[in-house]
Amino acid sequence: MKPLVIIFQSKKELYSHLTNILSEQLKKKPASVLGLSTGKTMLPLYSNPKFRKLNFAKVKTFNHDEYLTPAKNLSLSIYMKKYFISKTNMKKENFHILPHDTANPKKACQDYEKAVANSEVDFQILGLGRNGHIGFNEPGSAFSSKTRVVKLTDSTQKANKIKIKKAMTIGIATILRAKRIVLIATGSQKAKAVKCLLESPASTKCPASVLRTHSNATILLDKKAASRLSSA
Ligand code: GLP
Repeated sequence: MKPLVIIFQSKKELYSHLTNILSEQLKKKPASVLGLSTGKTMLPLYSNPKFRKLNFAKVKTFNHDEYLTPAKNLSLSIYMKKYFISKTNMKKENFHILPHDTANPKKACQDYEKAVANSEVDFQILGLGRNGHIGFNEPGSAFSSKTRVVKLTDSTQKANKIKIKKAMTIGIATILRAKRIVLIATGSQKAKAVKCLLESPASTKCPASVLRTHSNATILLDKKAASRLSSA
């Protein structure tokens, strides 16, 4: 089954659409389980006034990745507190993220894998790495991969303006278990990755291409991100 691809004239329309489909999801199932993402792509969503007014009272969330670092200020949990938890009626105890400073990352990843599997993600939101990564599943990640410690490529460290070599991420198989997946990509820096996501053969060289095997995946693009597609 092919993913549904929607190309928006403006970023504003894209984030408004994303907020609307999330709103429909929460109306249909107030106790939805959401898979969440960080990065620049997600900021216009988290700062959208309509998004902030959605009812997260019964929602449970799982972030898909986290840096492995003792430095709390570099942890993605800070981002989530600042842009999401403190701005919505989300209950802190229903928010989950991998522990950035754990002494036993392997065990933390196994526990997280179980927790995500037990909760059954209804709606997984994904960004897209410039090299086609999803979560921190860098090129070469097996489509059967689960939550684990990963090495970040130099290009990802550069793109994220960070010097952290290791991270933890839910696996590609973990992502694929979500009932619905919505990937967002904006800007010309993502155009090459969008092309490989949609137009190259599904391969571990471009982890996002695996979304073409999911039965309910939607890809939301702005014009710049879609600019290299042969169909655009
Ligand atoms: C990062 C993160 C992803 C994010 C993606 C795009 O490395 N692991 O969660 O979706 O790459 O990031 P950005 O939106 O900042 O371009």
